Amino acid sequence: MKPGKIVVLGTGGTIAGIASNRYDTSRYEAAQHGIDHLLSGLPVQELTELEIISEQVAQIDSKDMDHQVWRQLLVRCHHWLSQPDVAGLVITHGTDTIEETAYFLHRTLAARVPVVLTCAMRPANALLADGPQNLVDSLVLASQPQVKGVMVLCAGTLHSALDVQKAHAWRLDAFSSGDAGPLGHLVHGRLRQARAWPEPDALINEVARQALSEPMQWPRVEIVTSHAGANGALVDALMASPSTEPVRGLVVAGTGGGTVHQALLSALQRAQAQGIRVIYTSRSCRGMPTSSLRDQRVVYGLSPAKARIALMLELLCNFDPVAE
Ligand code: SIN
Repeated sequence: MKPGKIVVLGTGGTIAGIASNRYDTSRYEAAQHGIDHLLSGLPVQELTELEIISEQVAQIDSKDMDHQVWRQLLVRCHHWLSQPDVAGLVITHGTDTIEETAYFLHRTLAARVPVVLTCAMRPANALLADGPQNLVDSLVLASQPQVKGVMVLCAGTLHSALDVQKAHAWRLDAFSSGDAGPLGHLVHGRLRQARAWPEPDALINEVARQALSEPMQWPRVEIVTSHAGANGALVDALMASPSTEPVRGLVVAGTGGGTVHQALLSALQRAQAQGIRVIYTSRSCRGMPTSSLRDQRVVYGLSPAKARIALMLELLCNFDPVAE
């Protein structure tokens, strides 16, 4: 009998894409091949003793990721992680929003085994496709008993869900962990760990998972950006527009250390006075201010897109996104 399972969940992306020209892969359709097709032909038997099980959870270009797919993915991850013989999960995903999905799962799953999201920058039929190597590396990583937590693996580099950010539009090694640096590398099929594995998030628990596993309206949270010439018109319009889905929270992508144009700030304060939860982040993804320069309003270390997820979860479950 095999010692355990790795479950591979497919969601689409370039890793499952097809280009009409195998050399010029600038134009292609993402999310064309199913997960079984991506696994077929990989030297899985040589890589791991573990049984590989696959499941197609979605088939989308990840720019179109939505809350319903996240909910479905969470339900399936939770299902598989509850099985004692599951040694790890691998999730294939598009690169464009992989960092958001990774952060969402980091906050909502008690991942005591590896949950590895992987992707590709070239479609599956490119002359030198990167997806097969990334998938193989992810299977190797997911089978290692000492690894735990939600992470992203691309081009041999392993990033934590908290820090990972797509930093380049076409390089194969498209991701950065910023100042924190990567968790490690997969070199010639061997893991070189650089940092401690991320601890599963203890803040969100059974209550949150239950709430998220039901079909529901997610709290609406929008992102507004501060920039030269910014004003409050967008915020005022959001507050004024009658909607079946009223805004409950705003994430501000501020400048530098989280500063905001004074005209925008006034509108944000008006929104806050109407009960809207406002949190401040920075457009600059590097260089956390030293403690003496920190502004207590600002959530440091989370991109605006991840802070939006944190605020949605806070509104849903009543916990504090700043505590991360
Ligand atoms: C996507 O995010 O689904 C398309 C782009 C990619 O995977 O690189």
